[in-house]
Amino acid sequence: MSEYLPGLEGVPATQSNISDLDGTRGILTYRGYRIVDLALHSTFEETSLLLLDGHLPTYAQLEEFDQQLRSNRIVKYNVREIMKYLPATGHPMEMLQTAVASLGMFYQGDECLTGGSQCSDLNYVHNMSVKIIARMATIVAMWEHVRNGYDPYAPRKELNYAENLLYMFSGEDPDPFMARIMDASLILHAEHTINASTFAALVAGSTLASPFLVIAAAIGTLAGPLHGGANQRVVEMLEEIGRPENVKAWLDEKLASKARIWGMGHREYKVKDPRATILQKLMHELMEHRGGNMGPMFETALALEEACEEKLAPKGVYANVDFYSGILYKEMGIPPDQFTSIFAIARSAGWLAHWREQLGDNRIFRPTQVYTGQSERDYVPISER
Ligand code: COA
Repeated sequence: MSEYLPGLEGVPATQSNISDLDGTRGILTYRGYRIVDLALHSTFEETSLLLLDGHLPTYAQLEEFDQQLRSNRIVKYNVREIMKYLPATGHPMEMLQTAVASLGMFYQGDECLTGGSQCSDLNYVHNMSVKIIARMATIVAMWEHVRNGYDPYAPRKELNYAENLLYMFSGEDPDPFMARIMDASLILHAEHTINASTFAALVAGSTLASPFLVIAAAIGTLAGPLHGGANQRVVEMLEEIGRPENVKAWLDEKLASKARIWGMGHREYKVKDPRATILQKLMHELMEHRGGNMGPMFETALALEEACEEKLAPKGVYANVDFYSGILYKEMGIPPDQFTSIFAIARSAGWLAHWREQLGDNRIFRPTQVYTGQSERDYVPISER
């Protein structure tokens, strides 16, 4: 009998050359490039193409991809009509999953997915990836207005991905500093080896489901608070704590009741998540940009991280990517229940890179189980039970 490992801890689910992490040194690379360098020098558009194609693009390649993304931002009005019938109180990730799945009905033509173990039509794979990455931001921002009873802002072609995302939320010309921070955050969230949502994408992709359903499966998986949903919980938790001086008593009480501290801990990292380090630095830059004018939330977060270090570091539990991202998005005026949707926008690039890799050498996922139920027995008619 094979050994059962809960949560598949340490079990390789695939072979991949997209990203790699060193959980003891706190290093994450996309296609061999450290994310700290990408966050500093790249753009979300360039990083997406790097993830999809495997190499840094030339000027011409990047320009072509960027134009494709800009031309694919518009979402059919039918999707907006669907949104109008969804309850405004529903979670944005549920809307996002619905909207992305529905897109598949408009963009069929998945012949390359119907047979064999390989999809050789790279044009199809690339075009679908562009369609999805470009529309993710539009859908998320559209919902913000539709759920409040307004018409959404149309995407603006002259803006880059991060700028357009901020514009579509606020309707105002984006502050270049904020747009650069959003761009860096999108880069940091774009990919992260075989996490739960990427695994869901791989499983769906291995059945040759359409890319829209592959991404819908991943969106549903990212939504949970143990995964991408944690960034919303972090901000709610910091609001509950209120001020840095409340941290110690609050933490003692939570740990005594065995509660989870949102934004802390990671299966793979036994040191601080490198993405959290970069996001924290971006928060400091933002504070400087604002002349030190920030509410108490960031300081409360810093105090909480310090207090957690004392209590949780012995278990290898440190701040993860979700610890600072929510505070950053809040400062950008994005409502907390949309934080995970912003994560999903970025991660669509990584999911699609894995989908493409899976199709390159596909075999359907069909694991086994350790059966713990009844042994074979005779059916008992209802009158005799
Ligand atoms: N708060 C308090 N304790 C935590 C913790 C947290 N956020 N994360 C892990 N721990 C503790 C567990 O209680 C456990 O302690 P024990 O051995 O005394 O029972 C130990 O650390 C190992 O935790 P475990 O749940 O087995 O780790 P995992 O690899 O299965 O789970 C996470 C990883 C990410 C799901 C987990 O750390 C977590 O729930 N974090 C909070 C949610 C979050 O921020 N998710 C975003 C991840 S990017």
